[in-house]
Amino acid sequence: MTALFNSLDAISSVRLIDGPTPIQRLNRLESVLRSDVALYVKRDDLMSVGGGGNKLRKLEYLLGDALAQGCDAFVTTGGLQSNHARLSAAACARLGLKCELVLAPMVSYDGDGYTQNGNVLLDKLFGATVHEVPRGTDALAFAHERANELRTLGYKPYVAGLGGSTPIGALGYVSGARELLEQEAQRGEAFSHIVIPSGSFGTHAGLAIGLAMANAQPERIQAFTVLSPLDVAITKTRDLIAQVQAQLRFQSSVAADAVRIDGSQLGEGYGIPTDGMLEAVRLLAQTEGLLLDPVYSGKAFAGLLHDIRRGAIAAGSSALFIMTGGTPGLFAYRQTFDRP
Ligand SMILES: Cc1ncc(COP(=O)(O)O)c(C=O)c1O
Repeated sequence: MTALFNSLDAISSVRLIDGPTPIQRLNRLESVLRSDVALYVKRDDLMSVGGGGNKLRKLEYLLGDALAQGCDAFVTTGGLQSNHARLSAAACARLGLKCELVLAPMVSYDGDGYTQNGNVLLDKLFGATVHEVPRGTDALAFAHERANELRTLGYKPYVAGLGGSTPIGALGYVSGARELLEQEAQRGEAFSHIVIPSGSFGTHAGLAIGLAMANAQPERIQAFTVLSPLDVAITKTRDLIAQVQAQLRFQSSVAADAVRIDGSQLGEGYGIPTDGMLEAVRLLAQTEGLLLDPVYSGKAFAGLLHDIRRGAIAAGSSALFIMTGGTPGLFAYRQTFDRP
């Protein structure tokens, strides 16, 4: 296995995650659903820095690149309730880097909770400088301007893009795929379905390449878009896959039809609650004591539940849901969850 990933190991990274994240079976949920599909979660929400989540895997490579370039400040962008921003702030605190976040409100939801609680509260607690810019601002251009100002102050800044899903950030899930393949090898069985949310495409692109590098069926991945319309999500995921492949000098490619994305859970748009999301978050909390988030994993889990209930996943299959974190987002949607 390791030899397959030599090109990945040649790329700079920092360690922010302590060992493989656990895989757990959802026995209670299976019995409540009377499901013939074995259901598992991979707990990528269970990591030691900043509350954990998928973005920490990307930050292992983004911050590794920043440190390899001798940078001492990290500037990144996101929505107001960005989990990537919160985990950037936490990881920078851990590594002793200055962190500046350029945040734009992508939705206007739930009043004060959305603007002041959840990730926004934690960004400041982790010591980041937050620049709130109006909706529609080119946040990346703003980040580059801010980086120029930091240079005049004597810093050497590194600028990362939205959601950390640059070709370098996406390497975090090539590494995540290797970790999953090792866990499957230990279990002696591969999962037939791997279910994830898709926002800025890095989780999907990285996982797909990692599985393809080991010839381990990337078409097992079923993503649910929670941000872009379906056609945009498919095109951009394929583009990112091509860029990551080139970076790793990985010759054979992920087949175009192996990129499987479902648009049924987006609802009215990014960050706007759906009935399916509310049901999924409540059901997993009340059957398993596990927390999904309202923006990403809640909608993707609603998609998995929908597929199980309509029999789209064959009896006897085993589905692994990657819990990507985002729990602080629940506190930004207090009014939504207060309603019955
Ligand atoms: C909790 C959570 N899950 C899933 C995603 C989606 O991951 P990606 O942006 O790599 O598609 C994000 C971020 O966008 C996230 O914060």
